Amino acid sequence: MTNEIRSIFNRIAPVYDQLNDWLSLGQHRVWKEMAVKWSFAQPGDTCLDLCCGSGDLSLRLARRVGATGQVYGVDFSSAMLEIAKQRFQRQYPHIQDLSNPVSNIRVTWVEADVLDLPFEDHQFDAATMGYGLRNVRSIPQCLKELHRVLKRGAKAAILDFHRPSNPQIRAFQQWYLDNLVVRAAHNLGLQEEYAYISPSLDRFPMGAEQVTIARQVGFATATHYPIANGMMGVLVVTKL
Ligand SMILES: C[S@@+](CC[C@H](N)C(=O)[O-])C[C@H]1O[C@@H](n2cnc3c(N)ncnc32)[C@H](O)[C@@H]1O
Repeated sequence: MTNEIRSIFNRIAPVYDQLNDWLSLGQHRVWKEMAVKWSFAQPGDTCLDLCCGSGDLSLRLARRVGATGQVYGVDFSSAMLEIAKQRFQRQYPHIQDLSNPVSNIRVTWVEADVLDLPFEDHQFDAATMGYGLRNVRSIPQCLKELHRVLKRGAKAAILDFHRPSNPQIRAFQQWYLDNLVVRAAHNLGLQEEYAYISPSLDRFPMGAEQVTIARQVGFATATHYPIANGMMGVLVVTKL
């Protein structure tokens, strides 16, 4: 299962950014900025971006924490991390050494499974995760690991798809997933890989259930905010 998910993302990696932009009409950038803001990351913080993929959210977080901060982007797909490194080179061509403290932005890319993070306990001031939670094999294990590595008082903001409660918007979302998304992916030869979104969303616990799981693994507070007419959501958790 883990290998299957990883190889899907390795195959998607070359077109992932292009499809994201196209399918969300660029809105994913706004939603990711919301996640960065709601993580309460501050200049100078050491932060984590789980399931970082091609690194868009990690770089947004890195800009927020600035030259005195540090971001670790974690993903188990080597192809996605390769795109993340290329994106970084494109956006910051003058920075050669990513961990150099005199750079104006510091990111370290880590190839690892988010269900077994290679970090000590209580290490991070804030965390984000974009479109990752729906894909992991065990949501409780993922949130438990996140809880372990956050410092006390730290927050994490977890952005993902959501099912709208309004039946008309829900029907629109389903039409969109079954038609536009799969058709766009088909044109790029990746129909099967993108057909997984709808069933993964059917299996994904919705807002209230996400809150329950987060509380069960130890988060002191957990709130789910539906955004984009309920088609997306951000789970914000705090460790005390
Ligand atoms: C849909 S992409 C999201 C990428 C990025 N966060 C974004 O918002 O554009 C999901 C990512 O999660 C990664 N992923 C899924 N399960 C994982 C796991 N158990 N450990 C590490 N990465 C994982 C995949 O490799 C993929 O890059």
